[in-house]
Amino acid sequence: MMKKIIVMIIPFLLICCNRSKEDNRNLLIEYNSQKFEKTGEILYSKFCLECHGSKEANDNFLAGNIQNNKYELSFLRDYINHQDSLIQHKNELAIKIKDEWSNNDYIHHFKMTDKEIKAVVYYLKK
Ligand code: HEC
Repeated sequence: MMKKIIVMIIPFLLICCNRSKEDNRNLLIEYNSQKFEKTGEILYSKFCLECHGSKEANDNFLAGNIQNNKYELSFLRDYINHQDSLIQHKNELAIKIKDEWSNNDYIHHFKMTDKEIKAVVYYLKK
């Protein structure tokens, strides 16, 4: 009898433990994505906001283009960190963007890692 009870209890315990592991994992994912979004928000406020405006602003073309997946991460990385060398190397997209903005003198020259850029992208898309 005792054996039977134990045999019945074990699967029940297993299911319970698994469920709580899954819950824990979801919680961790949720926690990490919130942290990631916050990092993106902080970076954006610190480095981009003054020119590009708030994420919600209607004239924020950057947020619009990011939300529409206009740029690959590799392009964003080069553009944000070395816009000048993209233009020097005659990157068509970089030249086109500069043209659209009346060839103004501003050059993006940050030192952002891929992770930081991803966080900004994540924040802008949220
Ligand atoms: C001093 C002003 C200024 C700051 C600060 C700035 N930008 Fe820009 N950004 C511009 C201007 C002006 C353009 C228009 C294109 C150009 O002139 O190069 C632009 C264009 C862009 C573009 C390409 C056009 C598009 O579709 O959006 C991207 C991408 C971009 N900025 C990302 C960023 C990010 C990310 C940051 C913060 C890390 C940032 N910029 C900070 C002024 C700024």
